[in-house]
Amino acid sequence: MLVHSIVPNLSPEFAADVYAGLTKPVQKELPSKYLYDDVGSALFEVISRLPEYGLTRADERLLRRHARDIVERLATPVAVAELGSGSGRKTRQILEALCRRQRTRYYPIEISPTALAMCQRELSDIDSISILGFEREYLDGLLEVAAQRRAGQHILVLFLGSTIGNFDRMAGIKFLASVRRILQPGDSLLLGTDLEKSSAQLLAAYDDELGVTAAFNLNLLSRINRELDADFDLSQFEHVAKINPHFRSVEMHLRSKSRQTVRISASGLAVEFLEGETIWTESSHKYSPEEVLEMARTAGFRCDVQWIDDQWPFAENLLIAE
Ligand SMILES: C[S@@+](CC[C@H](N)C(=O)[O-])C[C@H]1O[C@@H](n2cnc3c(N)ncnc32)[C@H](O)[C@@H]1O
Repeated sequence: MLVHSIVPNLSPEFAADVYAGLTKPVQKELPSKYLYDDVGSALFEVISRLPEYGLTRADERLLRRHARDIVERLATPVAVAELGSGSGRKTRQILEALCRRQRTRYYPIEISPTALAMCQRELSDIDSISILGFEREYLDGLLEVAAQRRAGQHILVLFLGSTIGNFDRMAGIKFLASVRRILQPGDSLLLGTDLEKSSAQLLAAYDDELGVTAAFNLNLLSRINRELDADFDLSQFEHVAKINPHFRSVEMHLRSKSRQTVRISASGLAVEFLEGETIWTESSHKYSPEEVLEMARTAGFRCDVQWIDDQWPFAENLLIAE
């Protein structure tokens, strides 16, 4: 796989984002995209196999069951772009079904070089595929893909795993509208969305018994130590998952176990933490099936089909750009 990379030195932007997030007056926060360094991407792969995290299995079941139908509904010829592909394991179902009909160019778009490398290992054995990875933010990568579009070619965008849920509801609609603006009428978006479920199920999924999600979250502090020359003492922070009923989301936080000061040299920052104070690191919003259709409509898509898993409330939505 060829990989286009334009992120030779992430640190200045990372240092600035850490400064901005940890100096917020009411709630300290860190952008969730920084959870995915090499360790974080590997840990996410483990999370996706945990018994408590039914989300990935539901996504995979729907893709396996409906891949042929999805492919038959697409305007062809079509190139496939995947936003935040991760390892690409689930994507195999779609790509194999498509490659039976046409030679297929697949563009995984990822900020994590480790995830891009996993994706290549996972998918490069498929017949009639060529893979061109972009180490970019979602929309920058999609713009590059659109620039490579050949005359008469359509684009299928995959946004799986309910990664849309990491945006708050308004930002999610804005993001979908930005994707729509890059596409042309008749292009499609396959959007995975995790649906509302019991608090007990959600808390188990985001705070598993083995502590893998806790390690995934705490790794963000190790990453800041490694890349920004900081002195977070990981034994003085703990992972917390909590339901936010107002926003219908699960939030991940890192809670300070004591009053402490942390120095982050590359950000030029000494941050005070009170005992019990948290850093908000990720939100995962949960949806109703009807709400997903409304979001899609507002963003300029019509929903061709919505499939819902019968074991774990999760919807796969095939959306067509209008
Ligand atoms: C929740 S994981 C989902 C992975 C995979 N799509 C799945 O369904 O299992 C999100 C993925 O998006 C990538 N990612 C996060 N923020 C990103 C951004 N702003 N631009 C590009 N990729 C991003 C992460 O590296 C990670 O691999």
